Amino acid sequence: MQEAAFRALGIKAFYLPFEVRPGEFRRLMAKTKRLLLDGFNVTVPYKERVLRYLDRLSPEARSIGAVNTVVRDAKGWQGFNTDEAGFLDSLVAEGRFRPRGKTVLVLGAGGSARAVAYGLARQGARRIILANRTLTKARRIVSRYQKLFPRVQWESRTLKEKWCDTGTISLVVNATSVGLRSDDPALISPREFPRRTLFVDLIYQPSETRLLRLARRSGHRTLNGMGMLLCQGARAFQLWTGRKAPVAVMRKTLQSEVS
Ligand code: ATR
Repeated sequence: MQEAAFRALGIKAFYLPFEVRPGEFRRLMAKTKRLLLDGFNVTVPYKERVLRYLDRLSPEARSIGAVNTVVRDAKGWQGFNTDEAGFLDSLVAEGRFRPRGKTVLVLGAGGSARAVAYGLARQGARRIILANRTLTKARRIVSRYQKLFPRVQWESRTLKEKWCDTGTISLVVNATSVGLRSDDPALISPREFPRRTLFVDLIYQPSETRLLRLARRSGHRTLNGMGMLLCQGARAFQLWTGRKAPVAVMRKTLQSEVS
């Protein structure tokens, strides 16, 4: 997707994967400034850990506490979070969903969930429920975001709780890694939600997780993570190159690469 965009605009650049084991991350980060890198993306599970190696953070990245895009500038590495805006771009354009005044449920409390919850709060969601396997992690996010967005009604829950008050929820976002494997379960039952709730899964491969399949069969609207992947990538491209991303080219490449 990124290399297709570079080619389309005649930019001589490569986008290379660096697969790093947890024990090697620090050593790689210590080397990055000496490498011929103008920028990079960071993904699972390093989006939070990378912060300590950066020289500056954008206001969003600082508030969210997670970085997925890094740009070299005169002062060193600057960290951004394009997941948040990329999620919103996709939610509005493809999901035709506007968060203002809505009640939403976010599953997860990792870097992705933080970006999603921040975006929904920034767009004026009325009530945001964070449900996570480890309750303390959801609580930590809620207490941080309560200070940033005091008008939002924040709640934290475990995934085991019974969902008896789903009536007002109009959006459910899976921001956990559950669903990546085809035999993964759905963390909640879509049948318990009002018809036409929008179910979003940030996972794009498989293109339909069990959660989205059950949601579709229950008559809900569904959206996978492909749109967010594209939109966060387009925003990263703009940060690295200062040029408008050729989104159509990027979408086409992505669709042909991800089956
Ligand atoms: P990311 O950067 O994509 O958010 P992450 O920070 O590793 O990745 O977060 C992964 C999320 O998936 C977490 O919310 C995690 O729950 P815990 O905080 O309890 O670890 C969730 N997750 C991973 N495996 C899970 C499982 N088997 N059941 C429920 N939640 C799971």
